[in-house]
Order: sequence, then C-alpha cells, then structure tokens
Amino acid sequence: MRTLIRGGTVVNSGGPFAADVLVDGETIAAVAAPGLFTDADTVIDATGRYVLPGGIDAHTHMEMPFGGTSSSDTFATGTAAAAWGGTTTIIDFAVQAKGASLLATLDKWHEKAGGHCAVDYSFHMIVSDVNDTSLKEMESCVAAGVNSFKMFMAYPGVFYATDGEILRAMTKARETGAMVMMHAENGIAIDQLVAQALADGRTDPVHHSLTRPPELEGEATHRAIALAAVTGAPLYIVHLSSRHALDAVTAARDSGQNVFAETCPQYLFLSIEDMARPDFEGAKFVCSPPLRPADHQLDLWRGLRTNDLSVVSTDHCPFCFAGQKELGRGDFSRIPNGMPGVEHRMDLLHQGVVRGEISLSRWVEISATTPARMFGLYPRKGVVAPGSDADLVVYDPTATQVLSAATHHMNVDYSAYEGMELVGRVETVLSRGSVVVADGAFHGREGHGRFLDRDLCQYLR
Ligand code: URP
Ligand code: ZN
Ligand code: ZN
Ligand code: ZN
Repeated sequence: MRTLIRGGTVVNSGGPFAADVLVDGETIAAVAAPGLFTDADTVIDATGRYVLPGGIDAHTHMEMPFGGTSSSDTFATGTAAAAWGGTTTIIDFAVQAKGASLLATLDKWHEKAGGHCAVDYSFHMIVSDVNDTSLKEMESCVAAGVNSFKMFMAYPGVFYATDGEILRAMTKARETGAMVMMHAENGIAIDQLVAQALADGRTDPVHHSLTRPPELEGEATHRAIALAAVTGAPLYIVHLSSRHALDAVTAARDSGQNVFAETCPQYLFLSIEDMARPDFEGAKFVCSPPLRPADHQLDLWRGLRTNDLSVVSTDHCPFCFAGQKELGRGDFSRIPNGMPGVEHRMDLLHQGVVRGEISLSRWVEISATTPARMFGLYPRKGVVAPGSDADLVVYDPTATQVLSAATHHMNVDYSAYEGMELVGRVETVLSRGSVVVADGAFHGREGHGRFLDRDLCQYLR
C-alpha cells in the first residue's frame, strides 16, 4: 500500500522545502522533488499545506491516579484526541506507588495502555520510593526501553523525594545513562504556605498559585541542577513555568552542563488571571507548577528561541470540572492538579509562528524533532525522511478554528482555551502509514498504537 502526499511544503527542523512524500506500508519510502513520483494507491493533495513529522508529546498522564481520583482521559480517548491534534506519539508516566516495585509498576502500565492506544506510546517511570530494590530495578527499566525517571521535589508525603534520595537516584542514572526528569518546586516550603493560607481562610483557586511562588520553583530548579552536577546525571526539568526557573536552567546550560527543560502551552498562553476567575472557574486552571503572572510568558518564548527551553509538552492531566475539580470547593489544596491539552499543543504553538515568536522550523523542532532526540526515538520519529515511520501531519496554515469543549475530543468537560481563535489547523494525520484523521473524521483504531522501546538521550556526550 503506497500513499503519495503531493504538492506540499515539508517542514523539518532543518527548514521547509517543497517535496512530495511517498509512504510505503508503515514507513516513509522517499522524500522527493515535486512530481517525481506519480504512481501510488492513494494520493493526498497537500497543495498550500505543510507536511510535518507527527508531533511528539513527551509528557502526558492518561488515567493517572491522583488525590483519590483519576485523570479523565483513558489511553484510548487521550491518544485519539492527540491524533486529532497532530500528535502521533505520546510518552506517558508509569507511577510507582510507595512500596511498589518499579517492574510491577511498568507491567501495570503496559496492561493499562496495551491494546488501547490510537497512536504510538512510550513510558517514563515516576520513582516515588527510592530504596535498594528500586535503584536496582532502574537498570531493568532501562533495559526495557524506559530510561527516563521522574522525581518530585514537591508533594511531601506523596511523590516527594529528599535531596539524599534524589542524589542516590541520580547516581544510578549516571551509571545507566538514564535521564532524571524533575518536578522542581520546593514542596516543604509550599506546604507551609498552603497551611497558612487555609488557616487564614484564603481558600479560592487563585491561592494555589499564590502559595507556590516562582521563587520556590527557581530554588528547586537550582538545587536539582546542583545535585545533577555533583552526580554527573543528565537532568530534564519538566513543566518549567517561570523566569526564575529558566534563569537557573540558562546558567547551567551556559556552563556546559547536561541540563534540559520543557515548558507547556498553558504557561505560554494562560496566566494567574485565569485562576482568579469567579465562581470557582479558576479551578479549571489548577496545575503544578501553577500559572504565573503574564509577564513570564515573554521569558518562556525567549527561552524557546535560545534553546534553553528545548521541548514543549502538554503535561496533559485532565480532570472534569464536575465531580473532580469540584472536590476542592472551599479548599484549593483539594483540587486535583492538572489541565487538559494534548489535543491543542501543535495548534497553540503554531500561534507562536503566526505571531513571530518562533520560526516555522523551530515549531517542528520543539514539538517533534527534539522530543524524539531527547527521548531516544530519532530518526524513527521526529523527522520527515526516508526510513522514518510514516507519522505525518498535513497542516493547513491558513485555516482558522475556535477552541471549545463542545468540539474537542478529549474526555473532559471544559476547555482551558474556550473561545480562543487560532490560525492553522490539522487536516490529515497518518500514524505509521495509516490515515487516522482526514476530512474532519477519525479513522483511527484503538490498539493501532504500539509501545516504543526507547534508546538513550541523543544529546549526551
Ligand atoms: O499539575 C500537574 N502538573 N499534574 C500532573 C502531575 C505532574 O506533576 O506532572
Ligand atoms: Zn486492557
Ligand atoms: Zn510534575
Ligand atoms: Zn506531569
């Protein structure tokens, strides 16, 4: 089965060029001068369109247990929504419970996701219990293609790891070549600020942000970087939200350390003002780190240009307003943390191109190519090139759309971007050669997506 995508502009991280893309089976057979190939079983006309490598969202949480509830997208619904938005690979997180083994945890997540994903998927491992057994098991995880381990400086009593535990895990990461991913917020200090706020009767959602000030993200980021320097482990700061944390990452990168960072669309497009919306609506925007004053956005866009921020992931972790976010009425600390977004990352970042914040090729780089190289998927993923998986997006850069919960495909009852007008739209999506989205309809299949066994980070010396 050969599919020809004809007449489009291929956009790779190296820049755009006019080319036709020939797909044979599950892979790209050729990227050729326009008109060179004419013979195919199916032809997709991409005139006036971009042809992009499928997006890679390196940070999602499908059906994740949190605070007595579970994120509302399953692997089936969440990966279908990803496909709708031009994302053809997700890397989700297996979550070690205290006392559980890492390998049993990995099995459990394979069980949850296996046979259910519409696009390809992989896992990082959340390490919440550092002990001799789990440190040893990190080696087996790496051998099983899961070579990135998320740790938390936030959430004492849940996921929190002490500096000593982080140091031990980083030492193991250094030995195995694995990446440590850090949720960098000073959870011990935050818990005190939260207790003070609640004692004073400051219970509205906006206090979620006010009790997690950017200074405490900057401090934790700096501390994580210091621990990484001492151990020699590579470090990837997840969901970076503030200039304070960006400054720490920039200094580390300028010194030549293997430190990387991602930000998320919510930090680029939303702010603490959204958390102050009346009638508890602010709860829709509760995530950690929290949304910041809007002036941080300019610094984050700058970071994306300078490559101090090299990836944009969504941290997609949806909870319905009804019944889930509402658990925190009268006590912001009980609002489940997380926001929906897996469907809109490519489109939102395209606004950065439209506004002149980033170039066309940088858009592809931060949303597909760098995540692929960062997490050992390149060149199978992240590039339109012969031999790569035929994960392709035909993108109409001039179409317009209005985001709304009424039309999105994520299994959540609100949109954080309700009413936002966007320029650009995903038209056709292929996952390993199969059309999964076309003509405004979903043609994918639950279970089409395969688990991706990953190589080590390709940026390390
Ligand atoms: O609020 C967030 N970010 N929820 C998801 C879990 C995490 O910390 O990434
Ligand atoms: Zn199942
Ligand atoms: Zn986190
Ligand atoms: Zn997350």
